[in-house]
Amino acid sequence: MSSSANITYAYLQDNELQFVPPESFRKEAEIKSLDEYRRLYRYSIENPDAFWAEQSGLIDWHRNWKKVYSGNFAEGEHKWFVGGKLNVSYNCVDRHLNTWRKNKAALIWQGERRDDFRVLTYNDLWNKVSRFANVLKKWGVSKGDRVAIYLPMIPELIIAMLACTRIGAIHNVIFAGFSAESLRERILDSGARLVITADGGIRRGAIVPLKDNVDKALEHCPGVHTCIVVRQAHADIDFWTHRDKWWHIEIKAPDIKTDCPPEPMDSEDPLFILYTSGSTGKPKGVLHTTGGYMVYAATTMKYIFDLKDTDTFWCTADSGWITGHSYVAYAPLALGATVVIYEGLCNYPTPDRYWQIIERFKVNIFYTAPTVIRSLMREKEEWVNKHDLSSLRLLGTVGESINPEAWLWYHRVVGKGRCPIVDTYWQTETGGIIISALPGAISAKPGSAAMPFFGVEPVILDSQGNETSENSEGCLAMKRPWPGLMRGVYGAPNRFFETYMSVFPGYYFTGDGARLDKDGYYWLLGRMDDVINVSGHRIGTSEVEGAITEHSDVAEAAVVGYPHVIKGEGIYAYVILKKGVQESEELKNTIRQCVRRVIGPIATPDKIQFTEQLPKTRSGKIMRRILRKIAAGEFEQIGDITTLADSNVVDELIKHRQP
Ligand code: WTA
Repeated sequence: MSSSANITYAYLQDNELQFVPPESFRKEAEIKSLDEYRRLYRYSIENPDAFWAEQSGLIDWHRNWKKVYSGNFAEGEHKWFVGGKLNVSYNCVDRHLNTWRKNKAALIWQGERRDDFRVLTYNDLWNKVSRFANVLKKWGVSKGDRVAIYLPMIPELIIAMLACTRIGAIHNVIFAGFSAESLRERILDSGARLVITADGGIRRGAIVPLKDNVDKALEHCPGVHTCIVVRQAHADIDFWTHRDKWWHIEIKAPDIKTDCPPEPMDSEDPLFILYTSGSTGKPKGVLHTTGGYMVYAATTMKYIFDLKDTDTFWCTADSGWITGHSYVAYAPLALGATVVIYEGLCNYPTPDRYWQIIERFKVNIFYTAPTVIRSLMREKEEWVNKHDLSSLRLLGTVGESINPEAWLWYHRVVGKGRCPIVDTYWQTETGGIIISALPGAISAKPGSAAMPFFGVEPVILDSQGNETSENSEGCLAMKRPWPGLMRGVYGAPNRFFETYMSVFPGYYFTGDGARLDKDGYYWLLGRMDDVINVSGHRIGTSEVEGAITEHSDVAEAAVVGYPHVIKGEGIYAYVILKKGVQESEELKNTIRQCVRRVIGPIATPDKIQFTEQLPKTRSGKIMRRILRKIAAGEFEQIGDITTLADSNVVDELIKHRQP
């Protein structure tokens, strides 16, 4: 073991780099050694009921639960903290009011413009959440109703989510980067009758027309009777007075009281729906329930982020994604942290925007995505170095595996070699982090998400579903449920079982490949299904194909991911045009626009290749493996093509590959 420039590191037997938690961090950490982690992990696996019963104490219950767990996991059924009653907004807000945290900053919001910022104390948050919950009631929302939220990263987004939980309404947050069509699809599928939006978002100084998108979406959503609009961008919008209401007027209306008693919810009452992409064309509404989700989110926050009461926590994720549900809103607020939220981009107007914010608000824990790190490390280090980042004590990443080069830069340049990094692996479905280092106990190996969280039991399965031993590679599955695991797919009772539990009977299959090394570290190897991970966002290839074929000149499309330096994966589309249509760059642009219109800018293909044919088997199935290899330029590894109906297509595709 050796040490230089405050960086403690050790080489393992096979010369692998490993970062040991710094002594100063370890001393203060919740879990202080690998042995301590192992002991508690073993306990959580051998005595799950006792372990989770203890953790449930992180949450306040209106009525105590009677049983920790019941269910039949093999059939996809699992219930937690059965018989308990609780309220999420009470846990995230009210319970702090009787403590010194009453006037502590709960949310610090930074807008894209430097002068736009707001601080809300826990007391302010209570006031706004309660009043807005009464606004929702006034417009007919009651327990069990679905509410769609389509907002930029502004405090109203968190307030709206919490207000829903206060009255037992089920929120469905739709990322503000999604198009009107995606929005419509999600509103209809969830059966929402009230939508919350803003007059616009702000991106690179320009206005994102959120309200216009809502207007378009609602043309086809007859069930929606009310739309509440936050005045944010001061944009010029259409306002339909029978349906649209201003947030700032509603919340101050004379008939709106501040008092709104939190509705005691059953542990298994739905908390929220969040749509995510899978292998099929239609996004799934992942359903999380109240008790298990809250206990799991809070427990992971306590151990993985090692949260202290004095911490200012900044997770850069948008609350349109699961990370922004669990680690912007619910977990940090339940534990009484100060949470930073930021509306803008990491590099606008200058590439030091994030570092400025860390310095300005003295952020202690910073949680972001590898794609952000890769894009910022391309800039001169001075952009980082001109800011005082000495408040930082812990760094985290999420969304995809982090390449060691980016890890080392993050550690050295941002963390100055002092801050442990937790690479956290999880999914919309898992509710919270399921594989990660514990920062004071488990050494980090750059590129590995490290070890399972308490109560989580991963296995690596071979293609036949046999469990394999260490140092093996295969399909990552989970052998038992944990409180944060999703309960179902909204509106499709069998889809949870069919999608996740039937591939390998008895196991929850993540859809990811992984390798377990001899030290018990998991190395994630990417999706094994037709999902592309673009900048840490899940995009279903079939959704993009569906969007491309909406273009009137397109006959057929096949979409794959390919390695992209910044985004992790880029989107590569092979497109067959209708007979007689001329290929042109202009046409490629209109196809891109079509995808932006149907799904949203995040799904825009990076590369489009026109082709006459796609590689298909004799039974007509597209061989995506071949398309992926060609897109990646790995021609040597194309492999067996004898099952193709016409093997000449491969040479043709290679010849016209887009560089
Ligand atoms: C990928 C995001 C490697 C993975 C929280 C997973 C990761 C998908 C990591 C879920 C990580 C997320 N290392 N891969 N640390 N974190 N992933 O639902 O493929 O948006 O299945 O949830 O992201 O994406 P989702």
